[in-house]
Amino acid sequence: MCGIVGYSGPITVSNKPLEVCLQGLSRLEYRGYDSAGVACVGPHMDQVALDKKAGRLSVLEEDLKLHPLPEAQVCIGHTRWATNGEPNDTNAHPHLSKDHKIAIIHNGIIENAVRLKFELQSEGYSFTSQTDSEVAAKLLGRIANVIIEETGKPNLFEAMRRLGKMLDGTFAILAVDVRQPDVVCAIRRDEPLVLGLGDKETFLASDVTAFISYTKHALEIGQDNAVMVQGDTIVVTDFDGNKVTPKEFTVDWDASAVEKSGWDSFMKKEIHEDPAAVRETLMSRFDLDGNIKLDEVHIDEKLFKTIDRIVIIGCGTASYAGQVAKYAIEHWVRIPVEVILSHEFRYSDPILTPQTLVVAISQSGETMDTLMAIRHAREQQATVLSICNTQGSSIPRESDAVLYTHAGPEIAVASTKAFVAQITAEYLLGLYLAQVKGTLFHDEINGILSSLRAIPEKIDWILKHDSESIQDVAQKLVSQQTFLFLGRNVGYPVALEGALKLKEIAYTFTQGCAAGELKHGPIALIEENVPVIVIVPSACDRNVLHSKVISNIEEVKARGAYTIAIAEEADPDVERYADVIFWRPQCPTLVSPLVDVVPLQLFALYMAEAKQLDVDKPRNLAKSVTVE
Ligand code: AGP
Repeated sequence: MCGIVGYSGPITVSNKPLEVCLQGLSRLEYRGYDSAGVACVGPHMDQVALDKKAGRLSVLEEDLKLHPLPEAQVCIGHTRWATNGEPNDTNAHPHLSKDHKIAIIHNGIIENAVRLKFELQSEGYSFTSQTDSEVAAKLLGRIANVIIEETGKPNLFEAMRRLGKMLDGTFAILAVDVRQPDVVCAIRRDEPLVLGLGDKETFLASDVTAFISYTKHALEIGQDNAVMVQGDTIVVTDFDGNKVTPKEFTVDWDASAVEKSGWDSFMKKEIHEDPAAVRETLMSRFDLDGNIKLDEVHIDEKLFKTIDRIVIIGCGTASYAGQVAKYAIEHWVRIPVEVILSHEFRYSDPILTPQTLVVAISQSGETMDTLMAIRHAREQQATVLSICNTQGSSIPRESDAVLYTHAGPEIAVASTKAFVAQITAEYLLGLYLAQVKGTLFHDEINGILSSLRAIPEKIDWILKHDSESIQDVAQKLVSQQTFLFLGRNVGYPVALEGALKLKEIAYTFTQGCAAGELKHGPIALIEENVPVIVIVPSACDRNVLHSKVISNIEEVKARGAYTIAIAEEADPDVERYADVIFWRPQCPTLVSPLVDVVPLQLFALYMAEAKQLDVDKPRNLAKSVTVE
């Protein structure tokens, strides 16, 4: 959940290493923002120069103005989402070796930290923090000194390899040593780490967002790899010292994508990128005859034909995207589709066969629950296809195939454009399976694709016509403590997603509920003025759903609820019952989640703004949950 960044540049000391790391941390702050710290090393330093502060990155930046660090050759930096040890200056990273000649930063959880700490304490080591990361720092210092005794010279790279073999758990660790002032070393297991390739300089980070302003060329660092960078010299090995050739990739978006570019918040910017996220995800995935071509999905068509069951896994918003797709894919492909939360999947002893396709949905590609779940699936011989928005991340790397969404980097903790991109990608996959299995005619597939291609314009319509009224209603309801969200069929996971959005950025207690479930319990929550947000299905398309949901609105209205409807324009009934209506353009039921969710995203945004909360960095959360 933490953000890590490192820099090794040309053999001259300057402020650039620190500047690169501070800029990288500001780009990574969405990954964790409990505390931040940096450590610099240059020639003739006897100890690492370091500064770290609890709170946002700005607190550290202010302190650095008062206590500037010396010019340096290398620097590492860290933004923390606390896993063990409260967010304070002492527990902030970097952490130091006993002699303060080495500093490390760490993302992950070291599961044998208690035992290692006890062994070090028995040798006279003392600790200032409550963190597992400080144990790694003290242990690395000890290993480094043993190597100097053995060989007569420092070798941080070998020390890090030995450390990697001693740690249990998950880690991406960067380290610097004053005895090798132009070197940064790293080791990783399960936690994200990518390298940026510059001209006489190299960048290391949790994700490419940190260094995209400097380079788009990057290396994926694999499982149990160790890295040594010295300027633009890069050596990658396994923990036994065997050379490894990392995979190179080029980022397909530019630095402006990680800037607010005039928007009040990343979340507002990214909601307004919903149309482009759908359009770009559809882009260039068809041949000249209009057949779907998923070239990057390296799974043989013959294998796809044998797939007799799909299990979709994910967490949070990603799991709701899976629940939406279940309705469509079962209807188009006529095979069972099950949606299981990643963290439940692994411990539920799922029934998987080589004919099971496990679809792992993840915006960040680093969600530990989902990463562990796909490992389990592959151990059970299932085929794993990931739907991911982050190139070079762990989940695609460990899948049999990947279908990338092209939403561009999503910085706000609350997932918005990634959600609509994930549904679009799943629909492409479902239509591809229908095409391969022959469960839909070509013209039927084309008809559905046409309705998908029309979605960006429909979302644009909502953004232009509804934003003001949604903001008014949010401001009017700013003091409401609870909201109920209702939906049926594909509207049900949309209700769950709307409830999650409001919960996670406005800190409002919400419940998403299947509208049909109302009378089986949740209706007891209804009393005078309780706000109920209802996703109303189209009256034109399978209108049995529509009439049922209108009845649900009547039921809550009769008990005093304040009803807000997301409804299709020209709906003949909803105006008789709903207190407020957010209209959306007409579209077939199965693609309606792509438009119904947009007013809910805006409503959560405006509610958080009305409460003057930090829309992009809500309390207690981080963008990528890289611990189980
Ligand atoms: C969504 O707004 C939340 N930030 C969270 O539920 C998120 O969707 C979940 O943690 C999964 O993240 P991923 O898509 O990066 O795997």
